[in-house]
Amino acid sequence: MDINIKGACILIVDDEPKNVELLRQSLEHDGYENIESTTDSREALPLFEKFNPSLVLLDLRMPHLDGFQVMKQLQSVGKGDSMPPILVLTAQSDNVICLRAFERGARDFMGKPFNIHELLSRVRNSLEVYLLQKALRGQNEMLEQKVQARTEELHSTRLSVIQRLGRAAEYKDNETGNHVIRMSQYSALLAKKIGLDESHCDLILNAAPMHDIGKIGIPDKVLLKPDKLDHDEWAVMKTHVTIGGEILSEDSSELLKLAQKVALQHHERFDGSGYPNGLKGEEIAIETRIVTICDVFDALTSERPYKKAWSVEDAIAELEDKSGSLFEPKLVAEFKEILPEVLAVREKHSD
Ligand SMILES: [Fe+2]
Ligand SMILES: [Fe+2]
Repeated sequence: MDINIKGACILIVDDEPKNVELLRQSLEHDGYENIESTTDSREALPLFEKFNPSLVLLDLRMPHLDGFQVMKQLQSVGKGDSMPPILVLTAQSDNVICLRAFERGARDFMGKPFNIHELLSRVRNSLEVYLLQKALRGQNEMLEQKVQARTEELHSTRLSVIQRLGRAAEYKDNETGNHVIRMSQYSALLAKKIGLDESHCDLILNAAPMHDIGKIGIPDKVLLKPDKLDHDEWAVMKTHVTIGGEILSEDSSELLKLAQKVALQHHERFDGSGYPNGLKGEEIAIETRIVTICDVFDALTSERPYKKAWSVEDAIAELEDKSGSLFEPKLVAEFKEILPEVLAVREKHSD
């Protein structure tokens, strides 16, 4: 680590001009280039703030403000870890004074008259420790920022890949990728409305786009057939939930585990008449119960090759009509309450 000890600013506060001169000359002779001083202790604080010194050499007995008062002032503006060391210089070298100076934050103590070589070596040690710690803190901060930036980048890349995967399935199905964006945002809004915590809402937001990922595995002649599906074709179509479950299986991440659950369950119905497992009520995960309502609402209010977009009123009427059979009644009621926010999302991400 590179530190420039001789370039560090040293502030001398001593009411005796002779002392200040002696200290200045000794320090300059030793190569220090950046020395500020005052013989008026009332100047200590403004100089401290102006020059941001890396070491303060402070006399104790001075008119106006004594060394203890100056220390108090400096500590009120110096920030914790970054407070520079204070080296106290005084003729009053009894133990009580010395102890009091340490208690008030002095780093080191030298009785006058001092041996100049000893003083220079203490100055050097104090500066070295302070500047190294400062450099280390700077380096840590930089590393932390880098790690944070990298983590954010990873997070957003992962999210983007997931959203695109969801879109890919939707494009194949109905030529628009915005459906997954809208329905996942409605889902997060509904999750928040029923009191799920922020990270849970976030998980739902990111898992929901993959609900129909299994459609990638459905042959086009079935998936894109404009007419009604026959019995066998319908059976093939239904496999998109288990195919989705397989695509998203065997991953340890919380997000993909949830995505798999949603993909597998999103055609289950609240009354147990859905597929693939005929799950009923709370056997269906809360996340899926949320997603199902939002998915259907958006599908109804969107135009598809085989149908026009329903009005919001008609779509809400449909949710109410299927409340208790397809959907959990409590969630339908909550969804109606967040309708203004849902419509704002719909507006923002319209096809
Ligand atoms: Fe589906
Ligand atoms: Fe969907």
